[in-house]
Amino acid sequence: MSRTERKWDHIRFALANQEKSAFAFDEIKFIHQSLPNISTLDVRLGHSIGELYLSSPIFINAMTGGGGERTYRINKELAQVAAATGLAMAVGSQMAAIKDKAQQYTFEVVRKENPSGILIANLGSEATPDQAKEAVNMIEANALQIHLNVIQELTMPEGDRDFTGALDRIEAIVRSLEVPVIVKEVGFGMSCETVKLLSSIGVSIIDVGGFGGTNFAEIENNRRERALSFFDDWGIPTPISIIEAASVLGQDTAIIGSGGFKGAIDIVKGIAIGAEAVGMAGYFLQTLIKKGIDSLKEEIETLHREIRIIMTALGASNLADLKRTPLMITGETYHWLNQRGIN
Ligand code: FNR
Repeated sequence: MSRTERKWDHIRFALANQEKSAFAFDEIKFIHQSLPNISTLDVRLGHSIGELYLSSPIFINAMTGGGGERTYRINKELAQVAAATGLAMAVGSQMAAIKDKAQQYTFEVVRKENPSGILIANLGSEATPDQAKEAVNMIEANALQIHLNVIQELTMPEGDRDFTGALDRIEAIVRSLEVPVIVKEVGFGMSCETVKLLSSIGVSIIDVGGFGGTNFAEIENNRRERALSFFDDWGIPTPISIIEAASVLGQDTAIIGSGGFKGAIDIVKGIAIGAEAVGMAGYFLQTLIKKGIDSLKEEIETLHREIRIIMTALGASNLADLKRTPLMITGETYHWLNQRGIN
């Protein structure tokens, strides 16, 4: 099966699996305050992460690598949505277009459609510093994401088996690029141990990419008879991963939350427990493909409106205020954090 066909399979299975994600955000509860002393007009959603200014706490996370006409079309439509709504947007892995220059147009389209927006390039941890620069230049990116996808690779019979040297390669990229490097998981979450290693080599933005949304182990397993189904429920749930990361990172490293975000309440909770921004992939792709570009724009405006309403109820006029709001953590999330010694 070609890379392009495999990527299309990913999209189809990702869409089919959106409905049944487990979601641990139910175990994070806000504590109602009757005197918030704020108007919805006071709420500001804009926020800086290092040198990147994001006008929204939400961004479109990486999808659709692989090249081909479908990648081109989806990238074009997502870029139009990003331009209309002011959201930052990451593209999917550009490795196919680095290896086959004829595929570059499938990525270049995002900059054409969104000349002044925040765009984020994407490669895996096998990339060299030169490939990283090429990916950034291809879309005049404002940042580069490097994805870590060990479980997805192990689940694929044709996937990588050798994961040595990834941290050293990432460090070389961080040192050689002029734009910030975001290291991200793809739905299995990051532990505080992983996050500490990344921070120690100078990574300043980490997307924990937690368990609870698009599940690449399940997607790969669904495609074959002899499945490694023990990986289907492998991973650190998104809220736990955000809290693990927040427990070890200082002010100089920003956390992005992603993995299973669908509604405004989850987004606000993600920020309250430590994320500086929230990436959404599968839910946006599902909305785009099933309902079209205008519906996705409307959905994003609705999310913004609802986030403002929830922040008003909490008396939080900006994302920094939100991090000070009192919370209750229950159930498995509470026990996990307790056993890991994280308060
Ligand atoms: C992805 N994702 C992804 N991530 C990445 O870094 N490079 C990539 O090429 C891709 N490709 C890709 C294709 C499709 C169809 C989907 C749905 C997702 C992973 C994505 O950015 C995100 O980390 C996970 O999907 C978890 O977030 P959601 O989908 O639960 O919001």
